[in-house]
Formats: sequence, C-alpha cells, structure tokens
Amino acid sequence: MGRLVFVVFPLIVAFAMLSLCHGMAAAAAPPKPKLQWHYYQVHNTCRDAEQYVRHEVKMFWKSDKSITAKLLRLISSDCFVTGCDASILLDEGPKPEKTALQNRGLGGFVIIDKIKTVLESRCPGIVSCSDILHLATRDAAKMAGAPGYPVFTGRKDGMKSDAALVDLPSPSISWQKALEYFESRGLDVLDMATLLGAHTMGRTHCSHIVDRLYNYSGTGNPDPSMDATFRDTMRGLCPPKTKKGQHDPLVFLNPNSGSNYTFRESYYKRILHREAVLGVDQQLLFGDATKEITDEFADAAGLEDFRRSFAQSMFKMGNIKILTGNQGEIRRNCRFTNK
Ligand SMILES: *[C@@H]1O[C@H](CO)[C@@H](O)[C@H](O)[C@H]1NC(C)=O
Ligand SMILES: *[C@@H]1O[C@H](CO)[C@@H](O)[C@H](O)[C@H]1NC(C)=O
Repeated sequence: MGRLVFVVFPLIVAFAMLSLCHGMAAAAAPPKPKLQWHYYQVHNTCRDAEQYVRHEVKMFWKSDKSITAKLLRLISSDCFVTGCDASILLDEGPKPEKTALQNRGLGGFVIIDKIKTVLESRCPGIVSCSDILHLATRDAAKMAGAPGYPVFTGRKDGMKSDAALVDLPSPSISWQKALEYFESRGLDVLDMATLLGAHTMGRTHCSHIVDRLYNYSGTGNPDPSMDATFRDTMRGLCPPKTKKGQHDPLVFLNPNSGSNYTFRESYYKRILHREAVLGVDQQLLFGDATKEITDEFADAAGLEDFRRSFAQSMFKMGNIKILTGNQGEIRRNCRFTNK
C-alpha cells in the first residue's frame, strides 16, 4: 500500500471529484465543456471508433515499440501548448508548433495519419484528431505496461498552430520552475512527478544533457547531482560538442528500460541513485513533495501507485483547454484545417 494518501485514491473517486468540480464551477461561470466516456458510441456516430484505433496501434506496436514514447511526448507537446486541440499535428501556417525548437525530433505523426485514414473511410468527418491522439496514446501506453484508463472523448480540433506560442521548458529546468509550469496548466506536484515518469522510456538528444555532463549552468563543472560513474558513461555517449553537420546522438532516457519500452519503477530508482538522464528528472530528488513521491514510486510495491497515478494524471492532462461543441472542427486530415 502507498504511504501517500492522495496517491491511493481509487481512480473512480478521482473521476467523480473531477466531475464534481465541473458541476460546482457551472453555478458561477458558464458551463465547462464536457467530454463523455465512449462519446462516439453513446452518440451512435461511430460505434467502433475506439476498436479501430486500438487495432491500428496494435499493428504498429508489433513492429515499432518506440511508438509509445513518441505518442506520450506528442500528446504533452500538444496539451501543454494552447490545450489539447491537436494543434501540434498541423502542417499549415507560416510556422506551425511542430517547427519550434523544443519540438525537434517529435514523432508519432505517421500512426495518427494512418488511424485518421481508417476512421475517415469508416465514419467520415466524425472522429477528431485530438481524440485520436488521446485514444492512441492510451492504447500504446497500455501495450507498454501502463494501466488502461478511460479516455473521455468529444474533443474538437483547433484551427491554428503557431510555433511562437510554444513555451515548453528546457529539460534542465529546476523542480520549482517545472512545478510553476505544471501549475499554470492546472496540474499539481503529483501530476508532475507522475507525468515525468513517462521518461521511463524513449530517447533524447545529447544536446539536451551536455550541459549536465560538462558545463552545468555555466559553472565549467558537471552537474554535481549526477553520479560520477554514470556521468562518465554518459560522456562516452555524448561528446561535449557536435561539429556542424555532425549528428546529435540519441541516448535512452532510462538505460534500464532501453529499447524494451516498458513501464517500470526503474525511472524513480534511478533518480534516487542520481542516475537520471535529464536534469528535470533528477530535480525530483530535491523538492520535499517530489522526493516523497519518488521514494514511493521507486519501491517495487509502489509500481501500482505509479500506474494508478499515471492514469489519473493523463486524464487530467487530457482536459487542458479542450474544445467541444461548436468550438473548433473535426479535421478531415490531421495535418490541415478543413478550409
Ligand atoms: C561554460 O559556460 C559558460 C557560460 O556559457 C562559458 O562562459 C564558459 O566558457 C564555459 N566553460 C567551459 C569550460 O566550456
Ligand atoms: C529487455 O528485455 C529483455 C528480455 O526481457 C532483457 O533480457 C533485456 O535485458 C532487457 N533490456 C534492457 C535494456 O532492460
């Protein structure tokens, strides 16, 4: 059992509380947009939409497990910037979000396009790209060992995408700054420590960690919070500078999981051992609340708490500034608005 009361809340209670908050807000402000469980089935517009998505993700996952990490990154790049409106998928506009520096190396677009093509042939003009992204990410995460959680649907797609609005923080950010960022999106410290756990899998470019390895915050020294042996290993993979034209090497965010792409508690164990790859991950060790959560999730028995918390936080993230009803549209092609 978890020691943190707020972690062990049953999933269903958390969902009930979320809808309660919506209800209370309704008294004062105009009603919050509502998503529904199995929206396309309930409205009888595309009864098997969720099965089509799952089938496509499964086919893809069999040949490329990295899809889970890619979709998890894609969905946070979308939701944290202008809300969960699938603006990250747009190719149009002078400079769409996906061209921002922070979004370099983003992947997962191909599977979304594939799913959209299938759904347009089955139920034309019905299922939004934003919902596809949420359903596909849930399914891919589940295939990698995360719990299956309910994805509420009925989102509409946004109409514009602008790289200038991308304010995703640097991966070397302090825990305090990271928390400010999450809180500005209505997420709390538990959501932050949990969602960063998505770094249990996937890869990152050396350019995101060379500062930690060689010259941390301009001190001329490496990040003192990084274990020295681990630092030397990482230095072997990441040279201090890449010359022009030389490629920026990729390293696993969690060498314990590596190419296996599975959800494990090892991400949190590595933080306790000062072997986190990204600066922001290692920072979880230094806040009182984040340290407590890390301790809990690092414990083998805490894996269940992490999995449950992951489901709750993904649900909360999936509600950031959503468009519903006659806001936005249902794109026919996820890369372009319909006009
Ligand atoms: C470390 O970074 C600072 C600030 O960017 C720079 O002035 C300094 O020359 C760097 N030191 C080394 C050893 O590269
Ligand atoms: C991946 O899984 C295989 C089989 O379970 C295991 O032998 C291997 O050590 C794992 N690799 C990593 C990097 O964990």
